[in-house]
Amino acid sequence: MEEPCVVISGCTRGLGLAMACGFAARGHRVAGFGRNESALAELQASLGPEHHFEAVDICDDAAVKRFAESVLDRFGTPAFVISNAAVINTPAPIWDVPDEAMAHILAVNVKGTVSVMRHFLPALNAAGHGVVVNFSSGWGRSTSPEVAPYCASKWAIEGLSKAVAQEVAAGVAVVALNPGIIDTEMLREAFGESASAYDDADTWAKRAVPRILRLGPADNGASASVD
Ligand SMILES: NC(=O)c1ccc[n+]([C@@H]2O[C@H](COP(=O)([O-])OP(=O)(O)OC[C@H]3O[C@@H](n4cnc5c(N)ncnc54)[C@H](OP(=O)(O)O)[C@@H]3O)[C@@H](O)[C@H]2O)c1
Repeated sequence: MEEPCVVISGCTRGLGLAMACGFAARGHRVAGFGRNESALAELQASLGPEHHFEAVDICDDAAVKRFAESVLDRFGTPAFVISNAAVINTPAPIWDVPDEAMAHILAVNVKGTVSVMRHFLPALNAAGHGVVVNFSSGWGRSTSPEVAPYCASKWAIEGLSKAVAQEVAAGVAVVALNPGIIDTEMLREAFGESASAYDDADTWAKRAVPRILRLGPADNGASASVD
């Protein structure tokens, strides 16, 4: 029997791409988006037509709505809706972070996560099942200098997830997930070359995919981690 669908935002590289491949390898149909059209075409070709990848900018709420409608129509209610897409600021003290850079981080990391929930949660509520996994960070539970905009966005994810957890129907869960520290383009922006001391995304996904599959209604409102 076919496993239920998993939705992933930001699946063109890094953790989102590794999860898309990991869930597909376990028999799940995967629906995902990002902006990089050639990476999406490559992923579609490598995983096959039973999956669905589309170019969507998470800052465009109407585009996220159209994506959700087409996924719900084709695959039914997803088992997992993973809000993974995010950006980090170029490390700098807050007074050197331009207004547009701050606005962009909040638009992608916070408002984008809200758009995904806005357009998928009604279906999960109606079905009475499904887990929303909002990607947080160590910097959603602790802080460091020069990444204040990113910290603000990930602390927001923690509060947002806990509040929405109090709104969803019985059987549905909303979880904030700290993935750990993984060598991706984002980590290289923050850590530079020392990012290479950490696991790559595919190695991480071997732990993360089973961890996510174990999340269920009992985890509603939790701050979870991939160990
Ligand atoms: N790597 C780590 O150590 C680490 C640690 C803690 C938390 N995290 C969290 O884990 C998640 C994945 O991070 P990562 O390291 O894999 O980052 P990454 O390699 O930079 O990948 C980010 C993904 O987000 C997508 N994205 C960015 N802006 C977007 C937009 N406007 N619309 C749609 N998609 C967009 C990118 O796709 P396009 O460019 O194609 O749009 C890309 O697929 C993030 O939530 C991050 O905060 C990572």
